[in-house]
Amino acid sequence: MPLKISTLATAIVLVIFAAAHARVTRVQVKPNGVTPPVFYRDLLPILQQHCQSCHRSGEIAPMPLVSYDDVRSRAHEIAIAVAKRKMPPWFAYPRFGHFSNDPSLTEAEIQKIVAWADAHAPAGDAQDAPPPREWVQGWNISQPDVIVKMPKPVALPAHGDIEYTYEIAPTGFAEDKWVQMSEIRPSSRENVHHAVVYIRPPDSKWLRHAPVGVPFTASDMTDEDSRHGAHWTDSDILLVYAPGSSPDNWPAGMAKFVPAGSDLVFQMHYTTHGHAASDQTGVGIVFANKPPTQRVITLQLTNDHFVIPPGADNYRVEARGTLPNDATLLSFFPHMHLRGKQFDYNIVGASGNIETLLRVNYDFYWQLSYRLAEPRLLKAGTMLQAVALYDNSRNNLHNPDPDASVRWGDQTYDEMMVGFFDVAVRPDLDKWKYFIRPGAQPDKP
Ligand code: HEC
Repeated sequence: MPLKISTLATAIVLVIFAAAHARVTRVQVKPNGVTPPVFYRDLLPILQQHCQSCHRSGEIAPMPLVSYDDVRSRAHEIAIAVAKRKMPPWFAYPRFGHFSNDPSLTEAEIQKIVAWADAHAPAGDAQDAPPPREWVQGWNISQPDVIVKMPKPVALPAHGDIEYTYEIAPTGFAEDKWVQMSEIRPSSRENVHHAVVYIRPPDSKWLRHAPVGVPFTASDMTDEDSRHGAHWTDSDILLVYAPGSSPDNWPAGMAKFVPAGSDLVFQMHYTTHGHAASDQTGVGIVFANKPPTQRVITLQLTNDHFVIPPGADNYRVEARGTLPNDATLLSFFPHMHLRGKQFDYNIVGASGNIETLLRVNYDFYWQLSYRLAEPRLLKAGTMLQAVALYDNSRNNLHNPDPDASVRWGDQTYDEMMVGFFDVAVRPDLDKWKYFIRPGAQPDKP
């Protein structure tokens, strides 16, 4: 089967310090003569590097880990979270691949935090603190050049399922743009289960009958074209958001392309939490300062023809495809729902041998992207395989119904199997042109 260009059958088809507060505590020397680690000199650099992207005000973690006061009272809790490797969250098996966004602590860093907590969390000397880390307020990318928001807020009910909600936002770009970084920011984070932002070029026929600037769902559409369009597209994805996912920041010389006059189409999967709410998600964009030498496109390995039997605790679903042309592999973003257990990306060699590029111990509540530390050139003809394992047994604590036969579907009690991956290709190629195999007609999506 050729790689599907698009499809996501829908789907998702498809992330003070106040030196004034400093308090100098007397550092105890342990009986063995070793001085325990102290906050300002030893802990703070680790927290800045590995924790504050989420643990600062306005970000996804429930409490900031910025000042000594923030951290001291939680010393024990922090030591446990890091010793169990629960924090920082990361789900790739260390055996396979190296990833530039791996936030994991080294064994020595973990030991430092544990020893500090054991020593009753001494502050040390505030003079030894590193300078506070600078963050752009409200963003984890540099200050965006443009913020494109859904034009109208979406009203969300207190209870029940919400059909995928779409909103088309014109960019107003008068010229072609190359996107170096982008970040999706929901306004009501707890309601956004995922968001996919698609690029709709001006010559695309996709959802042309749908209204612009107001929310709509597939069932609001009266014509068959738009109903279908709400579930299928070959448009390129700007980026995907799920709780904990990181923003896009492409390597130098690589960028995503947004043609002049494009719209951004927001596909929102909302969930309800017992109280009515409203959301107006936006995407912040930083443009490349010069045209890149490679264009980044997002592809996917998808299988939507599976039935997971009731009670099955290790049900395997796979998808594979060969690359029609050379491409540099950059990153992965696996997507399943509540029964997802493990997700692998492999290269299948000529003799059937398997090389695993990434194995994720899947956690529905932490859908992360995994960026290769060394982007990897794959020749045309390379076969990629995605293998998903599902746990539909009672042992899976997230399982909404172990007695159900589970098929592909939008809602989280249904399942999905999508292995998104980003590749860099020649800058003159788009998804369609990339899929033209030398000497052949394009594969139908
Ligand atoms: C990608 C975002 C992210 C990063 C990075 C991160 N955290 Fe968290 N952290 C969270 C979220 C969200 C929660 C609350 C939900 C949860 O517990 O899963 C949390 C919860 C915690 C808790 C509460 C207890 C617990 O175990 O859930 C502690 C302690 C903690 N984090 C410490 C840290 C430390 C220390 C670091 C850095 C070494 C860190 N976190 C890095 C997002 C993050």
